[in-house]
Amino acid sequence: MCGIVGYIGNKNAQNILMAGLKRLEYRGYDSAGIMTLDEKEKSVLLRAKGKVSELEKRINGNKVEHTVGIGHTRWATHGEPSKRNAHPHAIGDIYIVHNGIIENYQDLKLILEQRDYVFKSDTDTEILGALIDSLYKQSETLLEAVSGALQMVVGAYGIAVMSADNPEEIVVARQGSPLIVGVDEGEVFIASDASALVGHTDKVIYMHDGEIGVCSRDGLELYDGDSHVVRAQVEKLELDVQSIQKNGYDHFLLKEIYEQPDSLRATLSGRIDPKTGYAKLGGLNVSDEQLRDIEHVFIIGCGTAYYAGLLAGYYIEKLVDGVTIHNHIASELRYRSFHVPESTVALIVSQSGETADTLACLTELKRRGVTCLGVVNAVGSTIAREVDGGVYVHVGAEISVASTKAFTSQVVSITIFGLMLAQAKGAGLQLIDEYIEELDALPKEITKVLETKAGEVKKLAKKYASYDHAVFTGRDTLYPTALEGALKLKEISYIQSEGYASGELKHGPIALIDDRMFEVCYIQDNWLYEKSQSNLIEINARGAHAIVITDTDKRLSAEAVVRVSTRLRHLTPLLFNVVSQLFAYHVAVVRGNDVDQPRNLAKSVTVE
Ligand code: G6P
Repeated sequence: MCGIVGYIGNKNAQNILMAGLKRLEYRGYDSAGIMTLDEKEKSVLLRAKGKVSELEKRINGNKVEHTVGIGHTRWATHGEPSKRNAHPHAIGDIYIVHNGIIENYQDLKLILEQRDYVFKSDTDTEILGALIDSLYKQSETLLEAVSGALQMVVGAYGIAVMSADNPEEIVVARQGSPLIVGVDEGEVFIASDASALVGHTDKVIYMHDGEIGVCSRDGLELYDGDSHVVRAQVEKLELDVQSIQKNGYDHFLLKEIYEQPDSLRATLSGRIDPKTGYAKLGGLNVSDEQLRDIEHVFIIGCGTAYYAGLLAGYYIEKLVDGVTIHNHIASELRYRSFHVPESTVALIVSQSGETADTLACLTELKRRGVTCLGVVNAVGSTIAREVDGGVYVHVGAEISVASTKAFTSQVVSITIFGLMLAQAKGAGLQLIDEYIEELDALPKEITKVLETKAGEVKKLAKKYASYDHAVFTGRDTLYPTALEGALKLKEISYIQSEGYASGELKHGPIALIDDRMFEVCYIQDNWLYEKSQSNLIEINARGAHAIVITDTDKRLSAEAVVRVSTRLRHLTPLLFNVVSQLFAYHVAVVRGNDVDQPRNLAKSVTVE
């Protein structure tokens, strides 16, 4: 949520900051700004409401050759999206960009107003800037002032701060909001997300909570919360430029949908072997004995990650007897008086590895001594670092705000965890083999769906794009599929769409059926086929506009039927989900929406 960039070196800072902001725009895109400083302490601060392209227009008339600066793209928390509220904020001698929330900003504001500070924006960030400025007047260094201010602050932050009188350094600090520093000969790059560093350097330092640092042309000096020098650990950045470009696709979302066969191969690589019936996730740090003892699995996430956990939870239940699955929405769990039974392991599911609510659950569960395993995509992210062990889903950069390839690989990763549980507990070997075979076949089966269904789904999307409402229904594993299908559609098309368990239809949702609504019914040809068919008959009887997504050849009465022919049985929902992803994408395109950056949303939600 919000993106931070910073640069100090010998190249044009405006160019580097703007390129970085474009890469980070998916984190927030309601306003943006950059500030650069020259050796004579002359600053150029440019800000604009709207997307980074709006800022670019402003820069075009204000080009300068400065070699140090900071920038920001914003997702509003305090104060409406506007130029006035855009970062960097300038107050006194201080320039600041900030991700996160300062919770005690109102108390601080009162103190600062007594010191004659007048605020131009509605943001908590400007108040933090003023606090730093007031301390800077009595400090020898900017580091001292920032460090003093942060001791008075309650909340979460990733910040980059400069003072108008010193073009030689940028002070950075993090607490609960990611910050990465890239280093190279004579230059330092700052970013809230590794994608902004790709192409500049592959030597990166992931800052930890409580750390504060000074970036100069000589590198990064890092300190812990007690002002002790920390030896920064330089790691290799694994992202490549290809993965953060559209590569000929109109949108990142479409590219990411089509990447799924490959991203899934990366998830599966070395983790299953159909010949030997082997399934193993290397990084769990959990022994077979510990796996055998597990009786409860908490699966925690937000949004799509939560739905991935829900679907995979069904799979674990099918694979292993005697294990109870507890799915939790992170923002709920963190405030519940919940009980954790003995022999529990928690799976913390997050694409970004930075989601604030998910992270809060992880902290609480660790405090209670629960073994926490991450199911994370972003390498080096906070959740990945804080968990006891875990699995990287390895789908590469997911840029589009709506999650697609991460979902598929999260489901698959957790299912492999289920297979490991089943193996450790000596559960049904035949079922384990079936799952491993299906996982192995899944990338090809997805390719088949993409190759054979794209045209048909596009036509369908055209037909239904003008509706106002939609319900998605399914039973068993198709229920979480329905929830995810509805989420995808609402995120990018803005059609109000809700997912329901088919059996719940007559307990309320059926009352909604009218001419402005269509219904997406997922029906699999399995032991629940007749029951799902009855639901379809019931809604048809009420004049529904039903779209069925199914794997059966049997005759089904509906306005439209998308038939996915597959040899899969257990993992078929993941194929149906690809159909819904394509459907949501094409509906959003027809409606003229910003597919990759839908209104009001952000990719990485680092505030509550
Ligand atoms: C935001 C994103 C979703 C994502 C959710 C959880 O809402 O827009 O796509 O599913 O956060 O994010 P995480 O990074 O924890 O998976």
